[in-house]
Amino acid sequence: MKWCLKLLLAVPLLAACAHTAVPTTPAKPGPLGNTAAPRRAWWKEVVVYQVYPRSFQDSDNNGVGDIRGIISRLDYIKSLGVNVVWLNPVYQSPNDDAGYDISDYRAIMSEMGSMADFDALLRGLHQRGIKLVMDLVVNHTSDEHSWFQQSRSSRNNPYRDYYHWWPAEKGTPAKRWSFFDEEGSAWRFDSTTSAYYLHYFSRKQPDLKWENPRVRQEIYDIMRFWFEKGVDGFRMDVIPFISKDTTFPPIQAKNPPEYIAYYANGPRLHEYLREMNREVLSKYDVMTVGEAGGVAVEDALKFIADDRHELQTFFQFEVVDHWGRREDNFLYPDSTDRSLPELKGIFTKWDSVVAQDGWGTVFLGNHDQSRMVSRYGNDSPQHRKTSAKMLHTLLLTMRATPYIYNGDEIGMANIRFTDIRDYRDLMTINFYQRLAREGGDLREFLTAQAEVSRDNGRTPMQWSADSNAGFTGGIPWIRINLDYRTVNVAAAERDTSSVLHYFRRMIQLRKSEPVLVYGRYQLLDRENPDVFAYTRSLNGRTLMVALSFSPAGGRTALPTGYTAGRTLMNNLAESPVQGGQLLLRPYQAVVLELKQDVAGRVNGQGGN
Ligand code: NOJ
Repeated sequence: MKWCLKLLLAVPLLAACAHTAVPTTPAKPGPLGNTAAPRRAWWKEVVVYQVYPRSFQDSDNNGVGDIRGIISRLDYIKSLGVNVVWLNPVYQSPNDDAGYDISDYRAIMSEMGSMADFDALLRGLHQRGIKLVMDLVVNHTSDEHSWFQQSRSSRNNPYRDYYHWWPAEKGTPAKRWSFFDEEGSAWRFDSTTSAYYLHYFSRKQPDLKWENPRVRQEIYDIMRFWFEKGVDGFRMDVIPFISKDTTFPPIQAKNPPEYIAYYANGPRLHEYLREMNREVLSKYDVMTVGEAGGVAVEDALKFIADDRHELQTFFQFEVVDHWGRREDNFLYPDSTDRSLPELKGIFTKWDSVVAQDGWGTVFLGNHDQSRMVSRYGNDSPQHRKTSAKMLHTLLLTMRATPYIYNGDEIGMANIRFTDIRDYRDLMTINFYQRLAREGGDLREFLTAQAEVSRDNGRTPMQWSADSNAGFTGGIPWIRINLDYRTVNVAAAERDTSSVLHYFRRMIQLRKSEPVLVYGRYQLLDRENPDVFAYTRSLNGRTLMVALSFSPAGGRTALPTGYTAGRTLMNNLAESPVQGGQLLLRPYQAVVLELKQDVAGRVNGQGGN
């Protein structure tokens, strides 16, 4: 789409937008100048806060977080300055996979409360000017969903074709690996009808058959149900999986990157997304973000380009996979390659996708990842606060909608369980059992899980130094990180140098500086192994962000032709500006205003 046309379409949004207007006149381009800004939209300007309900706040002392608990913390959420809450699934579920196995899409799981509680939560958020995004889990249901109960009951049942069945008389289906199954197979034999059903996740999560138009209509109805309630959008679980190779040919691959081509991104994916958009999404002013692991950068715009009418944004996983899990086996950490230049390259490559069209997202933590400060920062007592602030500076200065995972705003760290009995996640538990049966190295596995397990990100929110961190008066469903005695919200509120206070200030900075949302991103000093530095430019204004990713600090230069102006943000007291150089202390982060140095003069010491 041409730029002028985009601008025309943007007019109503510009009028509706609450804060500082983005000037639309092109900048007089300096070397880092910007010529065009993306089309405005509210969902590009928000900061999203992810609430993991099971671990946020327990209100009835059964050890499990719940909706009433979240309601009791709404003023805290408001105080962060975030505009959107993404809530992990709270629908009725037997909880084989912590709510990602839904048995009724129109009911609330009893542990979490009631539909009246949900309505009160939505009202409470809206009263505070915060939107609510729900999880849409529609690649699979629970095996306890009535559709599956019907489907498995007989081959002639009207719901039979809601799932993928392979009749046993055709022989054993070609091998498919499951991400979660304790025996590894994604086909499960069901004796009632003598057939196998497909489940790429656990055996209690049968895959829905999207090829069946009735299935698609059921899902669109569910979406309408929540939109009519006033929900503001969906995060779409494993969305590329809804279209898959349903001929199920034999494949040799054993590792996710190889077999994903058969499991997801199938031939009808974009047809389904367009249909979903046409029938439902286009009728509401809502936001959408697809969970889209395995989508190559060159395919990104097929999902998010304005004129595709599919999704607005998606999560790409290259960043979190790079400094995280091994490519061939997510259950082990990748300890060999932690090169910062490569990480910068990934961010930069994905930014280039949204330079002209579509829009990005940025996150470093969620309920499937270990804690961001333990992974990309440094959770030692010496560096935890500084490195967590540095990572928030990154998240809140990229050209993408930032997603912040609950607990990261106080710098919560990995718990690093050493005993399998402490784990609650089926992914860890089922693989452990499989390994035990196969005689694998359990010690090596547990060492790996201490770093990469999903449970690292699922321990309860640390509210105070009171018992159980103020999360519950009962026995918590999963152990609480003992560092809660010092790392907690109450202590962070009292300490003006805390991660929490810095996080709030960073959000305010992003909200007051359109350049941080829409400005052009340009990477500086690409090969620097210690420092991630870049500029953001819009309409003649250029900000520079410099982040030390090293316990040794780092050094970088201001871009040629520019001098340092005001320091807008600094996670340490000392200014790193030394003439045309930045000398960063360990994990230091700064956001500086740059001035074009017309006279060729070198000036400008930073300072708050
Ligand atoms: C992605 C979700 O984020 C994860 O928690 C879940 O286990 C899988 N999808 C399966 O639904």
